[in-house]
Amino acid sequence: MRSLPIIKIDKTCIKCNKCVDICPRYIFFPSKNEIKLRNLETCNDCGHCIAICPVDAIYHNRLIKDSVEAEYPLANEHFNYDQTLMLIRQRRSIRYFSDKTLSKEQILRLIQFGRYAPTGHNARKVNYTIVMGREKVVTILSEVIEAFKKIREQVTKPILRFLALLIGKRKKVEKVRRSLYRLNSHITYWEAKIDKVFHNASSLILIHADENMPSPFEDCVIAAENIMLGAQSIELGATYIGYLVKAWEHSKDVRELINLPINHSLYAVLAVGKLKHNFKRVVSRPEPKLIYWNSKT
Ligand SMILES: Cc1cc2nc3c(=O)[nH]c(=O)nc-3n(C[C@H](O)[C@H](O)[C@H](O)COP(=O)(O)O)c2cc1C
Repeated sequence: MRSLPIIKIDKTCIKCNKCVDICPRYIFFPSKNEIKLRNLETCNDCGHCIAICPVDAIYHNRLIKDSVEAEYPLANEHFNYDQTLMLIRQRRSIRYFSDKTLSKEQILRLIQFGRYAPTGHNARKVNYTIVMGREKVVTILSEVIEAFKKIREQVTKPILRFLALLIGKRKKVEKVRRSLYRLNSHITYWEAKIDKVFHNASSLILIHADENMPSPFEDCVIAAENIMLGAQSIELGATYIGYLVKAWEHSKDVRELINLPINHSLYAVLAVGKLKHNFKRVVSRPEPKLIYWNSKT
């Protein structure tokens, strides 16, 4: 078991109660003319208390290694609505990357975007496996194509379809059958050495977590979105590759090749690289459907 955190509130505290308001674990509470602490064992190290304190009166041994100034920069840079919306609208799934490979530094900068994503219970147990270089990407691609061939056989052979019916997997099989043309296209294109699965990417970021964490799927997917949004700020592109996640789920060979740590599942995959083409425009999307809920009572 982890030892209790050491949290101290120093004399500069102005009793503004902001730490009381924002602590998700009710650790800070006002008592007469001071703020007291309880439930220390429940602290999930979210750091909100340090970040909200207007006078830097809070010390937390697990959260401040060096200094507040170094580790908790001031949050006074704001992006306006239009800038933020434009950042979001400029993110694009890249379907053809340039041949240039990414440096380790570029990959590490991408991972920084994932580092600050929210995680359930602030668990921060998102893991990243980096597939560096086109050669390794192709090794995985070849195995994925083999998996696609097997899946195609399973959903098209009458006897195997019949067996799927018997074991109650008809819906699953029909779903795969509906996307058969895409599997076929991936296979056919790769026979001509055109990569429609990873879009010629030079690297992959495999995002995985222990299945027993509170919200491993959500944590990985949200981290992936952060990385996709951030990529363009360093003139890189990132595309979410659901096909590798599916191949990993279906194929023992793909799982063995990727070889994640024990109990880990692959929840998100990003193909990353430099852009070969730049988009001149952002795209339009239909207005989302909105419902303003009203209580019946
Ligand atoms: C769960 C999920 C899986 C996806 N899988 C793939 C994929 O395997 N290959 C691909 O090219 N794009 C994939 N995409 C990207 C979507 O196709 C893309 O977001 C959509 O076409 C809209 O384009 P945009 O991202 O440029 O707005 C995936 C997206 C999501 C959310």
